[in-house]
Amino acid sequence: MTGFSSDFLWGASTAPHQVEGSNLASDWWAREGLMPGMELSGDACDSYHRYREDMTLLVEAGLNAYRFGIEWARIEPREGHFSRAELAHYRRMIETALEFGLTPAVTLQHFSLPAWLGARGGWSAPDAVELFGRYVEKVAPILEGVEWVVTINEPNMMAMMSMLQDQAARGELGEWQSPTVDADSERAVEQTTNVASLPVPSVEYAQPLIAAHRAAVDILHARTSVKVGWSIANGAFTAAPGGEEKLVEIRYAYEDVYLEASLGDDFTGVQSYSSQQVGPDGLIPHPEHPDNTMVGSAYRPDSLGIAVRHASAVTGLPVLVTENGIATADDERRIAYTREALEGLREAMADGVQVNGYLHWSLLDNYEWGHWGPKFGLIAVDRETFVRTPKPSLAWLGAVARTRGGQLAG
Ligand code: BGC
Repeated sequence: MTGFSSDFLWGASTAPHQVEGSNLASDWWAREGLMPGMELSGDACDSYHRYREDMTLLVEAGLNAYRFGIEWARIEPREGHFSRAELAHYRRMIETALEFGLTPAVTLQHFSLPAWLGARGGWSAPDAVELFGRYVEKVAPILEGVEWVVTINEPNMMAMMSMLQDQAARGELGEWQSPTVDADSERAVEQTTNVASLPVPSVEYAQPLIAAHRAAVDILHARTSVKVGWSIANGAFTAAPGGEEKLVEIRYAYEDVYLEASLGDDFTGVQSYSSQQVGPDGLIPHPEHPDNTMVGSAYRPDSLGIAVRHASAVTGLPVLVTENGIATADDERRIAYTREALEGLREAMADGVQVNGYLHWSLLDNYEWGHWGPKFGLIAVDRETFVRTPKPSLAWLGAVARTRGGQLAG
């Protein structure tokens, strides 16, 4: 008994803007490099052209699922102008995955938006929900054969990014630092604490995202047979002595508001990297530690177990782990981290949490929202030649998949 069923999904995830390259019509492309500390995505990993090679490496390693995204900015590069060629491109990606026997999990929006919408305030634009719905209607026909669809990736981080972008536009940010990087730095802690105790900017930013998600779920349920959900950044927060009340408050603003809005979905996407304690005054910064990751967060492989238990308790839905991983240049640490994370997942499953699959972040070393430094990939990519070099962790995860978790013990 390994605890993982024969139809358990084992795979890896990517996001269009982080790997495709030249995402020219996106709001991210327009803003990159404008602020100090912000690197350009450029050609990224050129996965727009090399997705077949990426999928080949994944399947040859022994994995059976691939999460990738459709880029709204390519589908609708001008407001109201939908590109048939780009729809056909993403259909080819879906067909390639199916041809390889890979179960595709398709994300419809992963942080980047069309530049024309970004210029109008992004998710804060008054018609953003309606526009997203129209885009989803255009995409629905190419989803035939797809079982898993994530409408919006990490609406909670998206809300945080929208808030940072607004602050940048008002000249209030000295330099760019992605909210996905250095998540436990004092600055990020300050912001997250504010999110929980001030007029909760994140909930105000959350409203259009929740409305857009609900609209997309309705459209997809009406027009396709896919399972629909969204993927939440799970903080795996725990209470330090005396922090029990503050934990509930912070966790609500950070993630529960989105988990609760999953009512009517088919699954909940869990994305977990680290864990953090909450004290009576808010989040407690992590002390400096040699095991802390390249994005500054604590080395906490146990966070995945905490996250799936919490997400499933709040939503009552089956879980798909849509992201879990570690930013490290040391691949042995990646294997050790993932091994422990999967043990925690297996224990949560043994305790009754229904989990359909595990998709590692990330397949490739990619563009970390303004930064190229953090290495999350199972595969290294030479950014000049685009040559892919699988790391030992890819073969290791493939062996875990083939043995349905048996390899975890070895
Ligand atoms: C996002 C990814 C990101 C990853 C690692 C998540 O916040 O969905 O786009 O690269 O975590 O930071």
